[in-house]
Order: sequence, then C-alpha cells, then structure tokens
Amino acid sequence: MVLLKGVDLLTTEQTLYSRRQVLSLGRKTLLVLGLGCLYPVSRYLRAKENQLAKARVASHEMPLNLHWQRIGQTRFWLRQGDEGVEGMWATCTHLGCEVSYDPEQVQWLCPCHGSRFNQEGQPLEGPAVSPLARAEVREKEGFYLASQKM
Ligand code: FES
Repeated sequence: MVLLKGVDLLTTEQTLYSRRQVLSLGRKTLLVLGLGCLYPVSRYLRAKENQLAKARVASHEMPLNLHWQRIGQTRFWLRQGDEGVEGMWATCTHLGCEVSYDPEQVQWLCPCHGSRFNQEGQPLEGPAVSPLARAEVREKEGFYLASQKM
C-alpha cells in the first residue's frame, strides 16, 4: 500500500485477480468447453456419414433393369449389369453434389457446375475429372445391401 498525500492507492498486487489471470482462466475455460464439444460433434458427423454410406432395400420392391434406379432417398443407384447387380454412389467427384441419372441422355448429370458422366460413371464434361465411385452391392435374404466402396 502506498500513501500519497493522504490517499490510499491500490497497487496491482492488491487486486483480487490480475488481468492476465482472468484472460488465462478464460482461455482454459474455452479450451475445456471446446474439447467437451468434440466428442458429441464427431459422433453426430460419424452417424450421418454411416447413414449415408449404406442402404438396404427389399429386392421385390426394386426389380432391376438395365437403367440405373435410385434406392429411395439415398445416393445409391442400382442396375442389372452383365455380371449381376451393380451399384453407383451418386456423388459428383468435383465438389460432392448429388448427381442423377438421365435415361434419355444415358448420362449422369451434376446440377451444381454441369459435370456430365457416361453410363459407367466416366467423366465426359468437367469440371469433374474423376469417375463416379462404384458402390458395393450384396444380395442377402431378399434384400439388396449397398455400401460405399472404400
Ligand atoms: S459438384 Fe458436380 S460439377 Fe461441381
């Protein structure tokens, strides 16, 4: 404590917490809260990913033909190929928009930036340069089970 002309002046040692301590505590609190949020966020993202990466449909509900057919609201499309059921993961290889198959043009079309792919998923027109990914399809106990090829 310093006395100056009869007035008490508080020095920095007399304050309860210094500014530096308060900022440090704030940073640590944010770090703990941030780390605490990581687990639920990662679980949410993984659950979404898993949900998107697999599909199942009763084979009697989906008689296959030579054209690609979409399974419900998923990004999986199936068709009857020469060697059995084939699957396509309808995600554009440019930036990931959902492509759809146009049987009249016999092409996959991306609505975002106009990429086109042939029936086999090979790029015809950019900006996408890589082919569409095939899906793995298994028939089991009356169901088609499709999953993303890793
Ligand atoms: S995301 Fe398909 S062309 Fe860009």
